[in-house]
Amino acid sequence: MDLKIVLLGPPGCGKGTQAERLVAEMKFTKISTGDLLREGVRLGTPLGLEAKGYMEAGRLVPDELVIGLIKEKLAVTHGPVLLDGFPRSLEQARSLEKLTRIDMAVDIQVNEDKLVHRIVMRRSCKSCGAVYHLEFSPPKHADKCDKCGGELYQRSDDTEQTVRARLKTYKDQTLPVSQFYREKGVLHTVDGEGSIPQVYERIMNTIKKG
Ligand code: AP5
Repeated sequence: MDLKIVLLGPPGCGKGTQAERLVAEMKFTKISTGDLLREGVRLGTPLGLEAKGYMEAGRLVPDELVIGLIKEKLAVTHGPVLLDGFPRSLEQARSLEKLTRIDMAVDIQVNEDKLVHRIVMRRSCKSCGAVYHLEFSPPKHADKCDKCGGELYQRSDDTEQTVRARLKTYKDQTLPVSQFYREKGVLHTVDGEGSIPQVYERIMNTIKKG
């Protein structure tokens, strides 16, 4: 059976980092609403233009926009799926339920002060989207991606002020999603502190145990 997994957790807990490895080693197809929205902003699509202000303010993009995006992607995706950053509101979780079955929700938890430090020192590749941390997983060259040689940049929503706003949005609107999956009996909480490989191992053990 093709697994369908949702990755939950606050901004900076490591969803994107762990998803990248799960895709490489477990052949999941990753659907990340954050990546799709950033791509829309970069290309200046109508969706991107509408989403930009919400993202820069650390608020959620309206449900109907992201639900539409996910619907389109799920319609053309086959095999095991990893959803990174969706759902992040109860409305999104309920809509997803109508679109597909979710086998497991993996909720990665990290202390808030660590989250801020992780995010403000993150650098992302403009070309392939690879993620680095200047202290914990630094690139070999300060402004160049190890994987593709692309230019590294700091996301416009990775300032301390916006991170605090994103954390508030997470507590107000996304935490209830964990409870939603707990009630369905599919929520698994994983300790997201420790090294990137340690967290990956915990997630793998969780997936194997089902
Ligand atoms: P999105 O891109 O989804 O951002 P996020 O959820 O805030 O998560 P991040 O990408 O900031 O963090 P992450 O958990 O992926 O951590 P990462 O692996 O990079 O969303 C951005 C915006 O888009 C939202 O604010 C919203 O406006 C909009 N949006 C997106 N989805 C939406 C939706 N469904 N509905 C409405 N709006 C939506 O790691 C962070 C850093 O830590 C990196 O530098 C990494 O190298 C480092 N790191 C990772 N793991 C470890 C570790 N174990 N130890 C040390 N460092 C680590």
